[in-house]
Amino acid sequence: TDITHIRNFSIIAHIDHGKSTLADRFIQVCGGLSDRELKEQVLDSMDLERERGITIKAQSVTLYYTARNGETYQLNFIDTPGHVDFSYEVSRSLSACEGALLVVDAAQGVEAQSVANCYTAIEQDLEVLPVLNKVDLPQAEPDRVAEEIEEIIGLDALDACHVSAKTGVGVPDLLEQLIERIPAPQGDREERLQALIIDSWFDNYMGVISLVRIRYGRLKKGDKIHVKSTGQNHVVDSLGIFTPKRKETKVLEAGEVGWVSATIKDIKGAPVGDTLTHANTPDVAMLPGFKKVKPQVYAGMFPVNADDYEDFRDALGKLALNDASLFYEPENSDALGFGFRVGFLGMLHMEIIHERLEREYDLDLITTAPTVVYELLLSDGETIYVDNPSELPEGNKIEEFREPIARVNILTPQEYVGNVITLCTERRGEQINLQYLGKQISLTYDIPMAEVVLDFFDRLKSASRGYASLEYAFERFQPAKLVKVDVLINGDKVDALAMICHLDHSAHRGRVLTEKMKELVPRQMFDVAIQAAIGSKIIARQTVKALRKNVTAKCYGGDVSRKKKLLQKQKEGKKRMKQVGNVEIPQAAFLAVLKVD
Ligand code: GTP
Repeated sequence: TDITHIRNFSIIAHIDHGKSTLADRFIQVCGGLSDRELKEQVLDSMDLERERGITIKAQSVTLYYTARNGETYQLNFIDTPGHVDFSYEVSRSLSACEGALLVVDAAQGVEAQSVANCYTAIEQDLEVLPVLNKVDLPQAEPDRVAEEIEEIIGLDALDACHVSAKTGVGVPDLLEQLIERIPAPQGDREERLQALIIDSWFDNYMGVISLVRIRYGRLKKGDKIHVKSTGQNHVVDSLGIFTPKRKETKVLEAGEVGWVSATIKDIKGAPVGDTLTHANTPDVAMLPGFKKVKPQVYAGMFPVNADDYEDFRDALGKLALNDASLFYEPENSDALGFGFRVGFLGMLHMEIIHERLEREYDLDLITTAPTVVYELLLSDGETIYVDNPSELPEGNKIEEFREPIARVNILTPQEYVGNVITLCTERRGEQINLQYLGKQISLTYDIPMAEVVLDFFDRLKSASRGYASLEYAFERFQPAKLVKVDVLINGDKVDALAMICHLDHSAHRGRVLTEKMKELVPRQMFDVAIQAAIGSKIIARQTVKALRKNVTAKCYGGDVSRKKKLLQKQKEGKKRMKQVGNVEIPQAAFLAVLKVD
């Protein structure tokens, strides 16, 4: 396709505002799929996407649209993920585009995360077109929402298309606007090859596949290519576009977006954000990539059965093939044995990984409470980073203890602003800004990352009856009065239960934690003491009283099926237990600190 007839764009939308429905509509209008195929094909790939959780990332679809002026355009739609944990991926999808559609649900209004993503697009010099979706709904208020877009984001929404992705109303007009307003890409096709790797993933049949945007030159099957950062050369096996089916083509040229499969063994050989060129032009400059993501939370994961360790390692390796943001290294715990320290982008990421390991790889795992990464200045002048409470140096070796601070942006309807402020204050937040924007209020806080990543989002949702929205990013490290709280069971420190928290909160957290643990640790034949301590000072204590004889006797009377059920329950419960000293501790207890407020 002639470069002037190409449009590369992404859709920025909050979850549920209709991105997928609109994308399907585009595919249909452009004749990529029949009605029946649309159902089968797209839904299938969506199922797969659900199944594969977060591993299918920046996907793309190439569509051919014949505009009202009679010309045919190539539209490359590059998908972006919706959840706040994965917002960094938005910027990498945007880096392959000249424009973006900001889709806002006209019955809901602007959400914080879309605002943040929209600013990312504007910073990357993209043309952003606001789109008001769901105008078929009786409660839609497109005019109010258009005003919100102007006030909150500062985008002119006067000409925003009114569409219903569901009924198709307004979609053809939107495509016309897209052709008119989003600029065509630029880049000389006779130049030396420079292609940006937007994403790479592992396909069981084809090996590593990369989604690329060609900036300069052209790429053909059989070409010898050079990966800039690794310095390795490979041969292109096949390349093409997604229609959304994977379709082979002969060539990808400057301005285009498509997939490439070469003789690359694993995704580390085709790093996301890297530059591809030809093997005979290795001195071509790197394209500006995107920020490398760092995990924000770390947790220990341990197999319940020590025999599963090898399987667990293999499973992590397989997951990491498709998830460059998954980090892991061996960890050894006195209490839980051999396992791995695993780094995640956020809690959702952690839950997905845990779930997939258990479901797809049939592993029983104990996950310890997640923690953020702390920066420590040691007495000898060294700066270190610690992501595991049990690896904290002795208190007297620490000169300064610094915690990560997140810059948090919240949008909330006015009536909930009191609740939201209370929540932010409880979480040691410092107010940076408060602004009235139409019916919504925009709040900016600096809040310790540890207070944000765990359950802040859920709390925010309940404080605002689901209406407030959130976006956050790491801002800086800041000195704080932090302490390590140890948990002792019958006098033995359990390394996997240790936590780092603020001194002012430590007494309270220690108390609530021991109370929670008391509920969770099953009664044994002897008393179990659960203590929280800072150093050698005990700050809280609870006792799980010994079982008196025969409390279970009544269960074993009469009804056989009831008896079976109880035994089954016990068996299931057992699986989740970990023997610590002579006490059995259930998985829930290791996560009890999450429930402590
Ligand atoms: P995620 O995939 O979770 O990010 O959501 P999404 O933004 O892709 O939203 P999706 O397209 O799945 O739409 C969310 C819900 O809104 C679905 O139930 C759609 O049927 C519905 N929906 C989307 N567009 C419209 C519309 O124009 N009108 C109405 N009434 N409903 C719509």
